[in-house]
Amino acid sequence: MEHNFVDEINRLKRERNAIILAHNYQVSEVQDIADIVGDSFSLSKHAANTKHDVIVFCGVHFMAESAKILSPDKTVILPVRDAGCPMADMVTAEGIREMREKYPEAAVVTYVNSSAEVKAESDICCTSSNAVKVVQSIKNKQIIFAPDENLGRYIADKVKDKEIILWKGFCITHKRVRTDEVVKIKQYYPNAKILVHPECEAEVQNMADFLGSTSEIIQYAKQIPDKDIIIGTEEGVLHALKKQNPDKNFYLLSPGLICANMKKTRLQDVYQALLNMQYQIEVDAEIRGKALKALDEMLKIS
Ligand code: 13P
Ligand code: SF4
Repeated sequence: MEHNFVDEINRLKRERNAIILAHNYQVSEVQDIADIVGDSFSLSKHAANTKHDVIVFCGVHFMAESAKILSPDKTVILPVRDAGCPMADMVTAEGIREMREKYPEAAVVTYVNSSAEVKAESDICCTSSNAVKVVQSIKNKQIIFAPDENLGRYIADKVKDKEIILWKGFCITHKRVRTDEVVKIKQYYPNAKILVHPECEAEVQNMADFLGSTSEIIQYAKQIPDKDIIIGTEEGVLHALKKQNPDKNFYLLSPGLICANMKKTRLQDVYQALLNMQYQIEVDAEIRGKALKALDEMLKIS
């Protein structure tokens, strides 16, 4: 049955002139059918530059929405309508406007894990792979950073000459990782390196050997000689890690590292998406124009 989906997806993909983009957290079979698998930043770049007519975005809503903002003439499809990101829902455009009133001298940097309306209120966007560079590129001394408090703290730690005003959003998946889980897994694998996503709590970040985006973690794991590696980000990255490093052992830092929203998309949904051209993402033209500026600013500097 799965095999039929693969053939059908490939046939429909050619027929529609579609490209399939998948985030590193997608289930293995969706990663395997995708044309490009990557982190939020690399997928945005592909969405901005693709020549295909249709982008099937296997990820969560804000990613497909960003693709539509960057490529408004393309048909952008999110295969599962309710695949959202709870963190992105933790900040509103109104909330950002209130922060601007409170801190009129501050620039607003928003993590791409946010709605088009929030991006439209922002000066520049960032992802976890370019957040430090983005903040360093800003002249203002004060920066409002939303919505991820943990990523904001990570940036503040690296960019000492700025005052980072933190929004209190978080990733429900990465927040589950506890320091006692780090202590315990270290007892089992005392020589293993710990690679962690900056969406984890600061205490967990402090216990890590390396911090980075999903693709940076995958790259780093490949380049180090270590055989045993502990992974502190969503389970989906294990697929690429195991494929690219058959001689290494990977251990998930916490059983909580599964994002229910990222796991909603199955091969059947990708097939239905291409067959019925569903669910198409639309963004209001005025919001889109403003959000595009913030995304373009990010793409310019990284
Ligand atoms: P990156 O792939 O940019 O590291 O993002 C992680 C994430 O949580 C996406 O929702
Ligand atoms: Fe959102 Fe976290 Fe899931 Fe990423 S892993 S989509 S930030 S809930």
